[in-house]
Amino acid sequence: MKRIRVFAPASIANLGCGFDIMGLALDEVGDILEITLSEGDGLTIKNESGVPLPDDIEQNVITPVVRKFMEMTGNKAQVDVVIQKKIYPGSGIGSSSASSAAAAVGMNALYGEPLSEEDVVICAMEGENLASGGYHADNAAPAVMGGIVLIRGYEPLDIIKLPVPGDFYCSVIHPKLVVSTKEARSILPKKVPLHDAITQWGNVGGLVAGLCSGNIGLVGRSMRDTIAEPYRKDFIPGFDELREKVLATGALAMNIAGSGPSVFSLASRNDIAKKAGQVMNRHFDALGIPYESYVVKVSNKGTRLIA
Ligand code: HSE
Repeated sequence: MKRIRVFAPASIANLGCGFDIMGLALDEVGDILEITLSEGDGLTIKNESGVPLPDDIEQNVITPVVRKFMEMTGNKAQVDVVIQKKIYPGSGIGSSSASSAAAAVGMNALYGEPLSEEDVVICAMEGENLASGGYHADNAAPAVMGGIVLIRGYEPLDIIKLPVPGDFYCSVIHPKLVVSTKEARSILPKKVPLHDAITQWGNVGGLVAGLCSGNIGLVGRSMRDTIAEPYRKDFIPGFDELREKVLATGALAMNIAGSGPSVFSLASRNDIAKKAGQVMNRHFDALGIPYESYVVKVSNKGTRLIA
């Protein structure tokens, strides 16, 4: 019998302009799984996290990840997973990806690392597909690998880890509004006007160049989204007004975190990140909408084994 514990970090997808192709890993916040392998052939999942999750194993993102790992490696075993810590589902900080990444990295570790890091991300994407109805890696890749990640292409998967220039802090607020990723994806148009596409790819180029050269101002002004935000921001009351107030604190950018309803801002200083966080809290206090909020550092560390 082999047993491990694994931590997978929360993550933020899209980073404004990088819809489905960019994401970053957060420090401290994340999921913890304990995975045990023994003789036999089956899967059990026990939720000890205190966070409500579906009882049906087919609805748990861990299930397709474990199955994909077995399929890719040709292995079989009795796998018993205990979810010990869990990010709240729908929080916008990659809740399904954290469990998926923990399961994929954990299985790979238990079998002596037969899969490359990219193949581990492919396993983790199975969980994301169950949760959102799409194979995107912008939460799964940073959750597995850490840091800031660009997915240059999906066919085949081509993931590039970008430098994190110095300390970056995210202020994240999760207003208690219900927006499912499936719904937030279904409202997006299938075609994009050329003018918007030009703006978007200019910004993606600017964001990558800003990260590689350490040009913080360029990072901030590139984090704009003409593709998804115009459709999704209506889910978040007072979004434009909130952004104005957050940017006035000196934050570099403010965007929807993944598909929302969480919102995040990026700052290169902790005191600015704290101020931006207070502005966000006041905004939702005034609207009478309950929320959870955090100020967390961007982390270069991805999913890892813990004691
Ligand atoms: N890129 C995905 C989306 C992230 O925006 O739909 C989902 O968290």
